[in-house]
Amino acid sequence: MKARIIDGTSIALQVRREVARGVEEFCQKCGRSPGLHVILAGDDPGSAVYVRGKEKAAEEVGMHGKVHRLPADVDPEYLVKLVRELNADPAVDGILVQLPLPGGLPSQSILDAVDPLKDVDGFHPINVGALWSGLPGIVPCTPNGCMRLLREAGAHLVGARALVVGRSHMVGKPMSGLLLNAHATVTIAHSKTENLPDRCRDADILIAAIGRAKMIAGDWIKPGATVIDVGMNRDEHGKLCGDVDFAGAAEVAGAITPVPGGVGPMTIALLLENTLKAAIARESR
Ligand code: GUN
Repeated sequence: MKARIIDGTSIALQVRREVARGVEEFCQKCGRSPGLHVILAGDDPGSAVYVRGKEKAAEEVGMHGKVHRLPADVDPEYLVKLVRELNADPAVDGILVQLPLPGGLPSQSILDAVDPLKDVDGFHPINVGALWSGLPGIVPCTPNGCMRLLREAGAHLVGARALVVGRSHMVGKPMSGLLLNAHATVTIAHSKTENLPDRCRDADILIAAIGRAKMIAGDWIKPGATVIDVGMNRDEHGKLCGDVDFAGAAEVAGAITPVPGGVGPMTIALLLENTLKAAIARESR
């Protein structure tokens, strides 16, 4: 193997330690701990595992974590009312609505109800607009985690050719904005992109966020490129794998994230960081 492995598990641990120190300082200064509230509607087992992980991680760094578990057929008006109550509660610093919401619930109008100052996912239009305007705001956790991995890997971004494969609101689009703000030359590819292998071969920085197991082959990678794999899929044997064929890509890339142990642990770490930042910002208003 040629590529250096970017160890998301140990970088995430470092972020969590920094957050834990920040929480201790916050508690001493403000006499309370930051509060993270997660809303989980429905009984999707994957979402339940994620949410329990978020609650546990919040408690481990000294925050107050609470999950609001609601049935899949919850009245959308009740959900918006709950969000408004959390907006008004001074003990709540971060509100996260776990996605995807069960079919039939109007995701956007529920996300729009979250106070932008408590929107620790960075999905509110005010925070989306701030990112694209280069203004301060809350940045979505997964792309923010990818940027931290790129920095820790020493990737050169200014003027570099960056390709983001995937155009989701949660990852692809905000990732492209962050890379652009870091002065990379950014291309966004998606399911309709022509000749994706050649687009990939041009990229110094390749972010894979498509959600298809091992779709990006080793011979699509530019020699020496930095590869960040956001994918979390199951392969034909039921084993966790990314969007990139890791074994093939690791022979060509300069640095690459594994799956698991790459981007995954960073998402929760950056959620904790966003919650602490939101708490500090609210207390200093
Ligand atoms: N579901 C999968 N990832 C995420 C995330 O980052 N935020 C929310 N709210 N839901 C998710």
